[in-house]
This record gives sequence, C-alpha cells and structure tokens, in this order.
Amino acid sequence: MVQEFNRVGVVGLGTMGAGIVEVFARAGFHVTGVEIDGDAVDRGRAHIERSLERAVAKGKLTEDERGAVRDRITLSADRDDLGDADFAVEAVPERMDVKRDVFTDLDRICPPGTILATNTSSLSVTEIAALTGRPDKVVGLHFFNPAPVMRLVEVVGTVATDAATLAVAAEVAKRIGKTPVTVGDRAGFVANALLVPYINDAVGLYERRIASREEIDGAVTAAAGLPMGPLTLADLVGLDVCLAVMDVLWDEFREPRYAAAPLLRRMVASGRLGRKTGRGFYDHTREDAPAEEPPAGPLAAAVRGGVLGADLADLLLARHIDDAVRMVGDGYATADDVDAAMRFGCGYPQGPIELLDARGADAVADALGALANAHLAPYAPAPLLALLLSEGRTTLRDPA
Ligand SMILES: NC(=O)c1ccc[n+]([C@@H]2O[C@H](COP(=O)([O-])OP(=O)(O)OC[C@H]3O[C@@H](n4cnc5c(N)ncnc54)[C@H](O)[C@@H]3O)[C@@H](O)[C@H]2O)c1
Repeated sequence: MVQEFNRVGVVGLGTMGAGIVEVFARAGFHVTGVEIDGDAVDRGRAHIERSLERAVAKGKLTEDERGAVRDRITLSADRDDLGDADFAVEAVPERMDVKRDVFTDLDRICPPGTILATNTSSLSVTEIAALTGRPDKVVGLHFFNPAPVMRLVEVVGTVATDAATLAVAAEVAKRIGKTPVTVGDRAGFVANALLVPYINDAVGLYERRIASREEIDGAVTAAAGLPMGPLTLADLVGLDVCLAVMDVLWDEFREPRYAAAPLLRRMVASGRLGRKTGRGFYDHTREDAPAEEPPAGPLAAAVRGGVLGADLADLLLARHIDDAVRMVGDGYATADDVDAAMRFGCGYPQGPIELLDARGADAVADALGALANAHLAPYAPAPLLALLLSEGRTTLRDPA
C-alpha cells in the first residue's frame, strides 16, 4: 500500500516540520510543505537548505542527490496545495486551537483516504482525531529533534484509529529510515514519559542540595554511559518543555510521581529555560563558567559516603528503570519498544530494560529502598518489578 504513496504534505516548517520535509524528500517522496505566509516559507526553506548543506559537507549526500531532493520539495503558503497529498503530517505549534484550525482544514482539503498524522508531543491525539470526520485515519507520528538525525518515531494510535492506518504509518516510518514504536495515546508516549520524570528527579536532588549539578550529571553518565547527564539534558531540551511534559503527565495520571519539582517551575518562571535563554542549570553565556562547589549538607555527605546504601547514580537510575518496568507491566509498551525508544529517541547506549537486566532487579529494588529510607521517595516498586523479585528473578528478559 505504501508503495502507492507518492505525495506527502507537511504543515508547519519550523524546527520539526522543516526536518520532516527533508526526511521524506530524501527518502524519495514528493513533499509539499505549507506555512502561514511567504516569510515563514522562506524561513522553512532556509532551514532545509542549511540542513542539506550540512549533509553534503559531511559527505552524507552528494551534490546530485541534493539537487534531486530539492526537486521533490514544493513549499507554499497555500494550504489548498495539499489537495493531492496521500499522507499529511502536521507540525504546527503545540496549541489545540492551532491544531484545530489545521485539522479541520486538512479534513476538508485532503482526499478522504489520506492519513492525517500529528507530530504533537503532549496534546491528545484522540482529541485531534475527533476534530475530523475521519478519526480512523488520524494517527500520531512523533518525530524527535533533529528529525533528520534521530531514528525514533512513535506511532500513536487512538481508540478510533484503524489498524490499517497504524500499519501504514509504521511502514511509512520505516520507509523513511526510522524505527517506529507503535503505542496507544497516553501522556508522554514512551520516551518523554520516561525521560522527563527522570530529569525532574535530578532537579529534585539538586534542589535538596544532595549533590552539585556536575556531580549529578557526572554520576549518571559514568554509570550508564548516557550521552549527557540529566541537568545538561534539561538545559538542551528547554526547562519550559520539561515542565510542560511534567504538567501533562500530572494532568493525566494525578500521581505524586509526576509532580514537577518546585525548582523547575521557579526556573521557568524566571526565564531560565536553558540553552535557548543562555541560562538554565548551567551558564551558557560564557565558556569559562566555573564548576559549582559540591554542597556540604548532611544528606550530601551521606550520599557521598555511601551511607544510604546507594550512590547518586543508583538514586536516579533506579526510579528511571522502575518507571520503564512499570510501563511494560502496564502493557503500554513492550520491553523491546521501551529500549528502542530510549536508544533511538534519546541516544541511550542501552535501554532501561537492558539496564535493569545488567544491574539486576534486586539491585534496582535495593536502590529504591535506599531512596525510601532517606525519605527521598516512597518505596513503591512497579508491580512487575515486585513480581520479578518474588519469583527470585534478577532480569526481565530471560538471560541468553
Ligand atoms: N521542537 C521539538 O523538539 C519537538 C520534538 C517533537 C515534537 N514536537 C512537536 O512538533 C510540533 C511543532 O513543533 P516545533 O518545535 O517545530 O515548532 P516551531 O514553532 O519551531 O514551528 C511551528 C511552525 O508552524 C508554523 N505555523 C503556525 N501556524 C500554522 C498554520 N496554521 N499553518 C501552517 N503553519 C503554521 C509556524 O510559522 C512555525 O514555523 C509541536 O506539536 C511540537 O510539540 C516538537
């Protein structure tokens, strides 16, 4: 079926949309990208050109290929140009009123068989689908930033999505060189629902002066080989984006686990959003910003001295892993999907279930216990983790 696809429409040519246009065009699709006006079209075109230039400079694209990619891209300020799209992806700002405007229009403009996909990170795909007369053909297609580089695409189905729609969307994702992980419509999907509470936990430890930002980041990168520590990552993602995800998780689940750390909210309120504003947990306005003095309080000393029975990395990774096990136990995603999401969406060398199996379920539970003993978090292991322990197993996957 996908082989018959030829024309893809993309609405919004900002950070994500421009990358999505490029990804489809490089995979051989003819793409029409639309924006609100001529200036926005020019900005989108410049974004695509810069990215193609980088790909040529790195030897990932030849000059001839760049020419062919350009020939497959049409950019316009007229949404009606999407009248022949076989598949449309929306990447406009994360506001329901803007999505409503776009989806009611796409429903009118595109042929009845066209699948309409949204790149939303935090709005309900179900609500977006309900704006159209074809909820069975609406799907989430959640790319990661930068779209041309990151391999994960979360394919999100709602209770109304047709199985065939989901299958086509996953196949399209594969055809553009991505790794699809198909899940239901739930706040944060897989990657954000795991990543952002873990970042929030790091903010919580930092806020309680249990460790300096360098100690927190250094401990996790050393222990799990992650590309960067959680506070560096928060600055990169944007503290406002992290807070928005925490609030969406809170709204959906109403569990203390998803209460944003007060410091995160304060920093957003004061405009310290991370790299984009120059200041977040780190000072990005100068190269020679000094490292922070490690805090000297009693809890910091206890963690450093190993008194809690778990080190700093354990304290952060245990809950992160526990969340992943909970997600698998809830039947929301498989262990393979969880690991793929974190590997290909967040650059983890090992997914959280692989981390569980490497560290041992008992060690993860011990670290959760240490957190509880220090009154840093309640002791509430995921039911599936508790089940593993009761069965005397240390891994979720059977050892090879
Ligand atoms: N930025 C990220 O890291 C990221 C990652 C994954 C998903 N997302 C999601 O992707 C979507 C877009 O995010 P972004 O970061 O690219 O935003 P952005 O602000 O960079 O780009 C949005 C673009 O949409 C255009 N636009 C606004 N209204 C429009 C309309 N009615 N018709 C056509 N174009 C319109 C704007 O001019 C702008 O260029 C959001 O739903 C966001 O949650 C973002």
